[in-house]
Amino acid sequence: MSTRILVLISGRGSNLAALVEAARANGWPAEVVGVISNRPQAAGLQWAREQGFHAQVVDHQAFASREAFDAALLAACQARQPDLVVLAGFMRVLGEAFVRHYESRLINIHPSLLPAFMGLHTHRRALQAGVKFAGATAHYVSVTLDHGPVIAQAAVPVRAHDTEHSLAQRVLQAEHRVLPLAVGWHVKGELQLQDGLVSHRQGASQALYFPD
Ligand code: GAR
Repeated sequence: MSTRILVLISGRGSNLAALVEAARANGWPAEVVGVISNRPQAAGLQWAREQGFHAQVVDHQAFASREAFDAALLAACQARQPDLVVLAGFMRVLGEAFVRHYESRLINIHPSLLPAFMGLHTHRRALQAGVKFAGATAHYVSVTLDHGPVIAQAAVPVRAHDTEHSLAQRVLQAEHRVLPLAVGWHVKGELQLQDGLVSHRQGASQALYFPD
């Protein structure tokens, strides 16, 4: 059975593109059934349209409250009948009703090695903290922001002369590997989620390291 994947974005959409490329290259039993952005100007939305995907805006600014936005977003998502929702650079915090609706079938990519550096400005904070590893985390979403069962993490080194930009670029390359890996595992039914922990049924390594 083919998994219907819906992707939520807010910006450039490079993780969306990496996901689409991996789905095509690896012949996943899955199809992207839509892309929804909360920002009308998101570059990823234009890219999605050019690729022929159903692409839609649910503009958070058009709603008076977070609850109203959440309800509209949920309705728009439900209309696409997804089996899996992927947050690929989606920059709005989702409410409890939305998260609970898609529990265990909602995957996020976050640009840090969680639980370090939840929230925004992860690269700036990593540099300020002086950590020597940075990275990205693909995880199932739970109701608490940037928590939730970790599917896979990819570490990269922090280099002596890194700027926020250079570190972000290195982490982004890792995101483009770890998000498709996690989504591929999910759609192939290779993940087991038990007691809030994710394991790979065949024991594939859920820890990646990209030294370059
Ligand atoms: C990515 O770095 C992603 O990890 C981050 O936004 C960027 C989107 O880039 N997401 C978050 O910070 C979510 N908390 P993209 O639009 O090119 O995929």
